Amino acid sequence: MKDKVVIVTGAQQGIGFATAKYFAKEGAKVALADINEPSQQAQDLVKAGYDVISIKCDVSNENDVESMVEQTVNAFGKLDFAFNNAGIQNPMTNTDELDEDTYNDVMDVNAKGVWLCMKYEILQLKKQGTEGAIVNCSSLGGLVGVPGRSVYHGSKHAVLGLTKSSALEYASEGIRINAVCPGIIKTPMVENMLAQESDAMDELMKQVPIKRLAEPEEIASVVHWLCSPAASFLIGQGIAVDGGYTVQ
Ligand code: NAI
Repeated sequence: MKDKVVIVTGAQQGIGFATAKYFAKEGAKVALADINEPSQQAQDLVKAGYDVISIKCDVSNENDVESMVEQTVNAFGKLDFAFNNAGIQNPMTNTDELDEDTYNDVMDVNAKGVWLCMKYEILQLKKQGTEGAIVNCSSLGGLVGVPGRSVYHGSKHAVLGLTKSSALEYASEGIRINAVCPGIIKTPMVENMLAQESDAMDELMKQVPIKRLAEPEEIASVVHWLCSPAASFLIGQGIAVDGGYTVQ
């Protein structure tokens, strides 16, 4: 990863921050992007000797995303990899009780955000004429249904559709696009779900064969691997990293 340049969205906390830190430790230059600018997180990493910057970016806003890529290239000279990770969850709601604003918010961040990020990352890679790798963040929600989760799971299925079709478009140009599908990971998002939906989460946890939550670093290491030459023949895959949940 030495001198490789990586963008990680949703990097203020959780899986995004863990992944940004993982890449930085491996010698990459990392742009930490988040709707809440992760300046403190970036400062702490700089103090620890890593080469990182922070960027304020709402992934559902096209101008912000274009500027995120520009700021990264201005700071580090190029782009090699991206982890399009920013995402939001909505409270469990059956489909007939969902309101339009919630649907739009979840789709805007989780699905449109991934498309916008890919668009400007791919434009930059094509401008450079270099190879690159993009990893999108889907979910076990991209692979199966769960009652009360139609819009979130719909958005995460969309991430896989965007990943597969885009992967086919750019495979011959050396741009590899894949996705990760995390199971239940110990992050602030899941802490909220455990606090607010404890019964539903207990039920979900019973169905996790490995019988524990994952640490965010267990996703970070897979994202890192997907960007590395070790995954050079992987195109358009959605890799389940879910303690066995979706193979039952
Ligand atoms: P989190 O809620 O702890 O962190 C998400 C980050 O994304 C936050 O820093 C937030 O400020 C940022 N963000 C939210 N909206 C944004 C926007 N419009 N633009 C830019 N940044 C924005 O969540 P967590 O758990 O780390 O999740 C990261 C990704 O992993 C999400 O896409 C989530 O859907 C996915 N995921 C998480 C799972 C889990 O168990 N934690 C399971 C499966 C998927």
